[in-house]
Order: sequence, then structure tokens, then C-alpha cells
Amino acid sequence: MENNSIINPELYYKIKGKDTKIDTKIIDFKMTEKKYINEITVGDCREVMAQMPTDCIDLIVTSPPYGVGIEYDVHNDDMIIDEYLKFTEEWLTEAYKVLKDDGRIALNIPYEINRQDKGGRVFVVSEIWQIMKKIGFKFFGIVDLEEDSPHRSRTTAWGSWMSPSAPYIYNPKECVILAYKKTHVKKIKGTPQWIGEAAQVPDKNNPAIFKNKTVYRDEDKKEFMELVFGQWKYFNDSRPLTKATFSMDIPSKAIKILSYKGDVIMDPFMGSGTTALSAEFLGRNWIGIELSEEYTKVAKQRILEYRAKLAQTKLELEEVSKF
Ligand SMILES: C[S@@+](CC[C@H](N)C(=O)[O-])C[C@H]1O[C@@H](n2cnc3c(N)ncnc32)[C@H](O)[C@@H]1O
Repeated sequence: MENNSIINPELYYKIKGKDTKIDTKIIDFKMTEKKYINEITVGDCREVMAQMPTDCIDLIVTSPPYGVGIEYDVHNDDMIIDEYLKFTEEWLTEAYKVLKDDGRIALNIPYEINRQDKGGRVFVVSEIWQIMKKIGFKFFGIVDLEEDSPHRSRTTAWGSWMSPSAPYIYNPKECVILAYKKTHVKKIKGTPQWIGEAAQVPDKNNPAIFKNKTVYRDEDKKEFMELVFGQWKYFNDSRPLTKATFSMDIPSKAIKILSYKGDVIMDPFMGSGTTALSAEFLGRNWIGIELSEEYTKVAKQRILEYRAKLAQTKLELEEVSKF
């Protein structure tokens, strides 16, 4: 019976955990809804999530449509702002339902959008956070995203030229809203991203006495400290895989700092599959939902190519981001 529920060795360890703290929700989820795991389901994420069991996802990492009129394959991104916010509330309500009580969400959105005749300028972070709060999400933090080598040209719309009459002040940056469902602290501990080594170190006050301590590599400590600082650098992947692009750096950083190995990571707007690749590379399970069949084909191809390459050689994250 347990074999049916095994997705990867880390999860197996968690389920067979010697400390007898068995997460029955994980087991139930695997037994009944295994079809979603490490797969992309084609469909409207609101409907797909409505079919999924409650309390089964550890972390949602996603970059939803921004409501700025991007010509996606099938999704109409050219809504008036009120419709866009209604759509946002609908999918976030389902997302809240599928998260475990200690589940988290990392939501990549722009600070602001300008919809001109479809709703004017909107402080989208504020609007979406109000919706999240109403649904029940609790605030975990906000990460300011800093492009490593900004490719976006600065806006040429500056309003009233050389005058304070009506200047156009616009911030093209994006951020990641971090939130959790009910409890900030993870109920069941798993294997974190960074594993130290047990060592005997001299006591600070009495160097003659040695104490057991977990010692971490300097680069791991540096990475952890970078991730808890709410400003993440990222390389903007602008390859035309689909109309939807997402830097591998964003899901990778969120997954490393917010989840254990073997956890279930979901992206309800999977696009070209960046979150799936990142989760798989980092030893997590993943669930993808995507409205476009075309984009799903692209994403699946990326994942298959990654797996084929990995079967031949060990890969670094920088190499995975090129798939
Ligand atoms: C900003 S993109 C996501 C990019 C993605 N992170 C990637 O790596 O390519 C938004 C995606 O959401 C999809 N989408 C739009 N509405 C959807 C819906 N209701 N359910 C599921 N997917 C949807 C679009 O087709 C598009 O691929």
C-alpha cells in the first residue's frame, strides 16, 4: 500500500519516518490523487483546484497573468481591472483551499499596472493583498525583485515635460508576495535545502570542552542569508518559449527557502514549466495546471529534455535554467 504513495526517496523517508510522525494527509493525497503529482493538468486552474482535495499542497509558487493584455495562447489577458480582480479572487480562493494549514504561497506580480481605459493605474500589490487578506492568507513577507541585468527599456512616457503639472511616475519592478494559510511554523520537519555536517567544536567559554554542533558550508550560509533578506536578484529569462516567461531564479529561491525536500509544490499557471523544472531539480514534487495545451506541450518537452540530460550527467542550476 505504501509503495503506491512513494513519489521520490525523500518523500518515502518522510512517510516511513522513524519518528512516527506520519503525515496522513500526504499519504491520502498520494493514494487518491496521484494523477496530479509531477504532471501538468490542462484546464482552468479554478476548476482543476476545485476538484483537488483540500490541505494537500506545501507551497504554491506562481506568476499569474498580470492583466496587462499579453496575447497568451488561449487566456484573455485584456480584461477590465474589476474582472481581473474577480478572476484573481476566484483562483486565490481555490489556492487557499488546497494549501495545507502550514502551506505557503509565493506570488510573483508587478507592483503596479496601467490599464488606461480598462481601469487606469492600479497599485496591484495592494489590491491583491487586500483580496488575499479577505480570503484568510496571513502575511509572510514581501520580496523586492531586482533584475541582474535589466533588459526592459525605461518608459518614455513622462507626462508633463520638465514640469510638476502632471509627471508620469511609474515603477516597472516586480515583487513576490509571501503568505501562509494558518500557521507560520511548519508542523512536520523534513530535509531542508542545506544540510550541515555534525562536528565537535570547542565551547566558546571553555575551549577545552568540545560540543556537538551542525556545521554548514560558507556558501550555504551565504545563500540562506541572501534569501531571508527581502531583495532577490534574478536573471530575466526572455527566451520566447511561450508568451509567458519566468526566470528560473524566482521559483528556485522560493522553493529553497520555503519548502523541504519531497514537499509538493504547485504552480496553477504553469506556462512553459519553469516551476516544475526548478522543483524537480531541487528534489521536490510538483503539480502544474495550465490552460493552454500548446504551452503544456512546450513545458513537457522541457522537462523530458531535462530528465534525459540528467540521466547522462549531473547538472547545475544554471544549466537547468537553459532548458
Ligand atoms: C505569466 S504566465 C506564467 C509563466 C510561467 N511561470 C512560465 O514559466 O512560463 C501565465 C500563464 O497562465 C496561463 N493561464 C491563464 N489563465 C489560466 C487559467 N485560468 N488556468 C490556468 N492557466 C491559466 C497562461 O496560459 C500563461 O501560460
